Amino acid sequence: MIYYSGTTDGITLERLTGFFVGWPNPPSPEIHLKLLQNSDEIVLAVDDQTKQVVGFITALTDGVLSAYIPHLEVLPTYQKQGIGSELVRLMLEKLKGYYMVDLTCDPQLESFYARFGLKPMSGMGIRNYERQSGH
Ligand SMILES: CC(C)(COP(=O)(O)OP(=O)(O)OC[C@H]1O[C@@H](n2cnc3c(N)ncnc32)[C@H](O)[C@@H]1OP(=O)(O)O)[C@@H](O)C(=O)NCCC(=O)NCCS
Repeated sequence: MIYYSGTTDGITLERLTGFFVGWPNPPSPEIHLKLLQNSDEIVLAVDDQTKQVVGFITALTDGVLSAYIPHLEVLPTYQKQGIGSELVRLMLEKLKGYYMVDLTCDPQLESFYARFGLKPMSGMGIRNYERQSGH
């Protein structure tokens, strides 16, 4: 069974492994925990049996109009079971009071996010790859 949590209480570094798949310079579990703690909103998917975090989504907000979703990931062995969808659904519920809720994604994920009412928009960004592992 998977349960969903909005807090990092009780989440140890050992329970935060395996994420940032494919990132050349991935954040450590320490940085991942800091990222979760510093986010305005989070939802974690946790395996009830192992207590491992198997998925997460984060959001940053200005508390008034705007929210941004920087991260969504489900561990590969837990994908295609509806966990990613539930994380998005629960986060959008948390953010439903905001005028703008934005994220960026690869074109092939547009159909996934469209299921929740998100629409394609053009965006701009910069990636400082030498800072990819965080600080
Ligand atoms: C995107 C992601 C979070 C989905 O999690 P999940 O638990 O597998 O999602 P669900 O089981 O709820 O839904 C699966 C759906 O996701 C979509 N999907 C997932 N990854 C996809 C990809 N790379 N390309 C296209 N569609 C994808 C499929 O449409 C699939 O649809 P189906 O149910 O008809 O098979 C997961 O694939 C993941 O962690 N990917 C790597 C990180 C990532 O890309 N994050 C998003 C950043 S914007």
